[in-house]
Amino acid sequence: MDNSFAQDVLNGLSSRPKFLQSKYFYDKKGDKIFQEIMSMKEYYLTNAEYDIFTNHKAELLELFSSGVEKFRIIEFGAGDGLKTKVLLEYFLNKKADFEYLPIDISKNVLNTLVLDLKNRFPKLKVSGIRNDYFHALEHLHDNDEKVRNIIFFLGSNIGNFKKEEAVSFLKEIGSRIGKQDFLFLGTDLKKDPKVILDAYNDAKGITKSFNLNLLERINREFGANFDLSKFKHYPIYDPQTGTCKSYLISLENQVVEMADLNNKIEFEAYETIHTEISQKYSVSELKEIAQKAGFKMSYQFFDERKYFLDSVWELG
Ligand code: AVJ
Repeated sequence: MDNSFAQDVLNGLSSRPKFLQSKYFYDKKGDKIFQEIMSMKEYYLTNAEYDIFTNHKAELLELFSSGVEKFRIIEFGAGDGLKTKVLLEYFLNKKADFEYLPIDISKNVLNTLVLDLKNRFPKLKVSGIRNDYFHALEHLHDNDEKVRNIIFFLGSNIGNFKKEEAVSFLKEIGSRIGKQDFLFLGTDLKKDPKVILDAYNDAKGITKSFNLNLLERINREFGANFDLSKFKHYPIYDPQTGTCKSYLISLENQVVEMADLNNKIEFEAYETIHTEISQKYSVSELKEIAQKAGFKMSYQFFDERKYFLDSVWELG
């Protein structure tokens, strides 16, 4: 894990243009900042999906349990599971036969989640899987027609993939599930660009500190000397492609040393490091992606403002 972080940092920062992968935001400090992001008023995504779950939990249970003896929720990138808890609690109260397998790359996050769930819901069948998305796919081979696997991929986490990467990842999921299984996908939708930009450039600078934490993490883990005051947080949104991108911009010519990696990185004034993509889709674009990946979008659940969509996909 740490080795591949070092490799990826060296590779990304010696590329032109420079980049760092967004999966590295989530160390202990990054996890904490992301929690704060989810509670900011500008970050509408979390609330929108929370509303969807609260308003549609009965329909969802009906759908998930129909035609099978039991179901298994496998959540990719579970995080704090705050939204999912709404459903778990309801499903337990309704005595549904199901189990919950949260998967997360962060050990901190996963342990906290599983402990919390065991305390809160002693009857819940839960076991956590610490892994990244690609390795987690290996947990999807069981294929009993009486058990429905439901892959939860919430919070617009799929937005961190470029469009083509999203299609191949979804294809990969499709190749590992059965005809009774579902993909339950949370996606952020195209909307007023200002609403989107504000979500990634909040007034208090929480997202800025989230982005800069990547450099801080490199300082902490590799003895580097990034001076955070010499980098600017800069998100952009293209309303045509729906791509929101975040950058860190070097404010001057500078050389940064990464002592433990025996490496120096030169920056020119206004040189960028691309750190994240948060893709937004329209409903028709999503249907097209579903089709390209071998699925059909069978059910749609929106929040009141239609900012966000949770849709149920089946093999097409
Ligand atoms: C967790 C990937 C869905 O892209 O909206 C939040 C991460 N980055 N603010 C997103 C994030 C900046 C988030 N995802």
